[in-house]
Amino acid sequence: MVPPSALADAPDAAGQPAIKEPVKDTILTPRFYTTDFEAMAAMDLRPNQVELEAICEEFRKDYNRHHFVRDAAFDGAAEQMDPETRRVFVEFLEQSCTSEFSGFLLYKELSRRIKSRNPLLAECFAHMARDEARHAGFLNKAMGDFGVQLDLGFLTANKAYTYFQPKFIFYATYLSEKIGYWRYITIFRHLEQHPESKIFPIFNFFENWCQDENRHGDFFDALMKAQPDTVRGPISRLWCRFFLLAVFATMYVRDVARKEFYEALGLDARSYDKLVIEKTNETSARIFPVVLDVAHPAFFAGLERLVGRNEILARIDESSAPAPLKLLRKLPSLLGNVVEMARLFLLPPLVSDRYQPAVR
Ligand SMILES: [Fe+2]
Ligand SMILES: [Fe+2]
Repeated sequence: MVPPSALADAPDAAGQPAIKEPVKDTILTPRFYTTDFEAMAAMDLRPNQVELEAICEEFRKDYNRHHFVRDAAFDGAAEQMDPETRRVFVEFLEQSCTSEFSGFLLYKELSRRIKSRNPLLAECFAHMARDEARHAGFLNKAMGDFGVQLDLGFLTANKAYTYFQPKFIFYATYLSEKIGYWRYITIFRHLEQHPESKIFPIFNFFENWCQDENRHGDFFDALMKAQPDTVRGPISRLWCRFFLLAVFATMYVRDVARKEFYEALGLDARSYDKLVIEKTNETSARIFPVVLDVAHPAFFAGLERLVGRNEILARIDESSAPAPLKLLRKLPSLLGNVVEMARLFLLPPLVSDRYQPAVR
């Protein structure tokens, strides 16, 4: 058992959780997005109005209204964790909380800005913002058990926002919702089989939680069907491939870099990611015109080379060399990664209706 005072981010004397400094922004940390609100407000939903209304009705039911209530299992659970597991677990909580919160901010802002002109879309976004706020809040409370907390107001005001036009927002959020679903459900099912690896009670909540993410993903699926040009034509095919690759590669490199967290759950980070990538890719074939050939032997071999170079880059970053020298040393690996990503991007994709005709 570790006394809280042994931790760097321990609560202050009054027992208040310390406000945690957000981790440095890198290509691997969750992003905050903004978009063209005018174009979103003007969006014609008629091509898929019925399905969107049905999804909105599901959101109104708010199935998880009473789900995110902390129970006695949390009492003292944080103190049971050894220091190393604790470090990687808090990192996991922080990363998850930041990405849930980034979803909340985007959906909330969208719902606010298009409310008068596109009420159906605005209502769907409001319900999703409600869910994400709940998820982020629940994670932040869990961080509080470890004596740290994220200052979400500070994050809102100080994080850089990436602008994406609506169709790119659709690809990126669709993928992050579906990948979120597969990540949560895979961990949940694994821990169901291996209850001895359940290092914290938050995992008990993942089954219902992932259903929220699944519904959010289905909403973006329906929205892209209402805007069929987003998933039609040769240019869209290229963008779908690009987003699939960017999301999969980022996740793989990030998860392997913190494989200790998965080990603490009795999971192998590589096999876990492989499964999540295969499942998300398969799901995406329901809406994207093409998906990646992740079974191609060159695919995971390429991701592994990214992992290798990422380790070199991290080592250079940690060294005490002056910045220009660091950059010079990093250059070969950075260029190598660009070439690797291009090579992966050029692998022949799978045409979705041939790959998964049953669901299209
Ligand atoms: Fe969420
Ligand atoms: Fe979500």
